Amino acid sequence: MTIEHDVRNLDLAPGGRLRIEWAERDMPVLRQIRERFEKERPLDGVRISACLHVTTETANLARTLQAGGADVVLTASNPLSTQDDVAASLVTHYEIPVYAIKGEDNDTYYDHLKAALDHKPHITMDDGADLVSELHKNRIELLPDVIGGTEETTTGVIRLRAMAKDGALKFPVIAVNDSMTKHLFDNRYGTGQSTIDGIIRATNILLAGRNVVVGGYGWCSRGIAMRAKGMGANVIVTEIDHLKALEAVMDGFRVMKMIDAAPLGDVFVTSTGDINVIDVHHFEAMKDGAIVANSGHFNVEINIPGLKALSREEPRLIRPFVEQYRLPDGRLINLLADGRLVNLAAAEGHPASVMDMSFANQALGSEYMLSMGKQLENQVYTIPEDVDQEIARLKLEAMGIEIDTLTAEQVQYLNQWQEGT
Ligand code: ADE
Repeated sequence: MTIEHDVRNLDLAPGGRLRIEWAERDMPVLRQIRERFEKERPLDGVRISACLHVTTETANLARTLQAGGADVVLTASNPLSTQDDVAASLVTHYEIPVYAIKGEDNDTYYDHLKAALDHKPHITMDDGADLVSELHKNRIELLPDVIGGTEETTTGVIRLRAMAKDGALKFPVIAVNDSMTKHLFDNRYGTGQSTIDGIIRATNILLAGRNVVVGGYGWCSRGIAMRAKGMGANVIVTEIDHLKALEAVMDGFRVMKMIDAAPLGDVFVTSTGDINVIDVHHFEAMKDGAIVANSGHFNVEINIPGLKALSREEPRLIRPFVEQYRLPDGRLINLLADGRLVNLAAAEGHPASVMDMSFANQALGSEYMLSMGKQLENQVYTIPEDVDQEIARLKLEAMGIEIDTLTAEQVQYLNQWQEGT
């Protein structure tokens, strides 16, 4: 029997299988969880609809959930991030229904979300909250079956908190993003490296000596700024938050308004979660040949409709993922990956080693949701701190790193208040 699917081409499966195996080698924490899940089957019979980037790392998460007894279906969380060979392998080798095709249009993207919801999930797993949003807007008949959900990313958590604040959220959700072992590593080191990787794969430019403008100084942006600096770029940061701006200054970056950075930048990268961070008046001030990319979840950070309206002709695809827009005076603006997540569209997303921790949180978050969900309110929760600590402990152990433990004397010292100077 062929598993239900809508993927590019099942013939791509053998290549996908090898790449899934390659990623697995760098996911020791998830592997340990999978081995326990195989024995304990904590998710037996649980239907999970997952809306995640379909990558080699996600494939290993799906295998873990399946090992725990879950009945998993997977749909893409972004039209451009799917790795078609991985989607094919999941269907062919792991019997996991997948609805995801790299480059799918918006209608197909939503048809795929609907197919994943037809699975009647007990648990939703989201990256950006599109699945939860679709369920609450158009599929409320599914609500009685849903125990809860998990959410991977900052943008999704912001959306879910807005829903909870409005009283619109109808089941509890674990904000995986808020675990220390997620945002401190995935957002910073994962986004940092994979964003630079995406820009370089798309353009093959030398970053050394270039002015790179980074929009925002949250965990993702600081990773991008740090890695761009490490490649020899002169990094400029733009911010709207005084504290974060001050941190960027003290981390050694130039900080200014986007409109002041616009004529200086050779490369622009946004990762703020907000809309029109690079707007029409910024394009108007940019140098000929400026490169503009986004690494935030949605393709709204760069005003692409505005850029289209400003251009005097249709954009030209000069290389894969590089579209040139010509301004009325002849200057060219190079837009990468249609303003979608450049790290997942033009590269392969975060490396497995960092997704290991993020997806350990997803796996343990779904287990926690299953056991605790009925007692939780319809709010957004963080994973318990001891789970977060345990993931860090397992990661260190897998890296062969041992750390000190407090002596009895040190414990006692920390618990007293009499001793001072
Ligand atoms: N988000 C960022 N990188 C990712 C990856 N490699 N797999 C799944 N989701 C991601």
